[in-house]
Amino acid sequence: MKTKYLYINTIGCQMNVYDSERIAALMTPLGYRLTDSVRAADLVVVNTCTIREKAEQKAFSFLGRLADLKRKKPSLIIAVGGCVAQQEGRQIFKRVPFADVVFGTHAVGRLPRMVERVESRRCRVTDVEMTAEIDEFELPDGFAGNGEVSRFVTIMQGCDNFCTYCVVPYVRGREASRRPERIVAEIRSLVRNGVREVTLLGQNVNSYGKKEGLCSFAELLEQVNAIDGLYRIRFTTSHPKDLSPELTRTFGELEKLCHHIHLPVQSGSDRVLKRMNRKYTRAHYLDRLDRLRQVCPDIAVTSDMIVGFPGESRRDFEETLDLIRTVEYDGLFAFKYSDRPLAPASKFSDKVPEPEQNDRLQTLLALQEAYTLRKNRALIGTRPRVLVDGLSRRSDAGMAGEVRQWRGRTDGNKIVNFVWPEGVPEQDWMGHQIRVEIEEAFTHSLRGRPVTDKPSSLKGEESYAA
Ligand code: SAH
Ligand code: SF4
Ligand code: F3S
Repeated sequence: MKTKYLYINTIGCQMNVYDSERIAALMTPLGYRLTDSVRAADLVVVNTCTIREKAEQKAFSFLGRLADLKRKKPSLIIAVGGCVAQQEGRQIFKRVPFADVVFGTHAVGRLPRMVERVESRRCRVTDVEMTAEIDEFELPDGFAGNGEVSRFVTIMQGCDNFCTYCVVPYVRGREASRRPERIVAEIRSLVRNGVREVTLLGQNVNSYGKKEGLCSFAELLEQVNAIDGLYRIRFTTSHPKDLSPELTRTFGELEKLCHHIHLPVQSGSDRVLKRMNRKYTRAHYLDRLDRLRQVCPDIAVTSDMIVGFPGESRRDFEETLDLIRTVEYDGLFAFKYSDRPLAPASKFSDKVPEPEQNDRLQTLLALQEAYTLRKNRALIGTRPRVLVDGLSRRSDAGMAGEVRQWRGRTDGNKIVNFVWPEGVPEQDWMGHQIRVEIEEAFTHSLRGRPVTDKPSSLKGEESYAA
């Protein structure tokens, strides 16, 4: 079979990253191999996101840039998938007349057949059908891993929460969970291929398996924890309204579960939370967090915040700032509220003008930066365990030529950079856990010195250099 080349542009959340990996695996039997060069591609897949207007614009601006390429190479197949495709359906062809395929978020498994039809008949194909059942799939063994240390694993699709600002329930459909044995099998195959850390993905992992009567999320975590060769487990996202005592307890019980939780609060004002349909109050949120910190005192906590939600007053915003001071987050993702036509809040009155939104965002980010830096500085002198997941080369003033800079993450998900210590025979530390003494702290990363003289495969079994 002639080798053809596939270029994938992934925009959006980790779920799209996972779907793009699926797409690459699914297209392999048709003779497609991944390429980094859009010019070399025979098939370009654009996996889109519509969470905010900017994300949607990004997709259309990339697609716009493909027009020229398609003119020069008419055989090029352009497939638009993901959440914008689901939202717009055939309308995509009006804005991108040179596209060949529009496939929705539930049509990933059907993409190979769609591409085959375009190859043989040069017609346009659309599939944005949604189904209640999960579109089951496992990454083929040889494909899993991809040489990476850390991978995402989608455990459920869709969302039933209908927060008033959010487009996800409309473009990803109803909540549905994958079977635990399929998830465990997939992670085993990832581990066989060198993966050491997995992040389990769902819009609300707390409700994993409930609809289908499968095991609970905490039970799934236990099963994943028992997989030999896997060092670390993370998950995202946990909805604060139903963070159960059972799940809270797992942080004290499962040794592979990282001491980090991403617990998006969105706002510190009860009035705004109600209008967002988040179904919890600030007091409930703080109570759940207290319990987590009782079980796991060193847990790193991060969150998402929306500023300038319709009707958010200056006072509501002050309550958000106050919540940040109360919680002392390790890090925050903050967004300006963006109208999504499918979501009900787009019809709410009292929109906050953009300059005011900008102002609030800057205030919030400046406050958080001080906390992030303070939290990072508190790690100076400590020796956290770091899972090494990257290597880059950089030139260093004062050192001859290039140095190899290694990168890893702490249990609390903080990035640590370090260089090879002098006098230690160089080894490949990728995928190993080592102790690194933290020497410097910045806002986005830490810098340290390895204090392990040999990479260890086991949790807590390192030996130390003098
Ligand atoms: N399921 C996750 C969130 C997924 S979307 C949860 O409930 O926490 C990721 C983040 O995008 C959200 O947490 C929210 O902060 C942000 N977001 C979603 N819709 C948005 C909108 N219309 N405008 C601005 N930010 C939005
Ligand atoms: Fe969107 Fe809310 Fe569902 Fe998260 S829980 S995906 S914010 S509707
Ligand atoms: Fe974006 Fe869809 Fe994810 S809208 S955030 S790619 S679920």
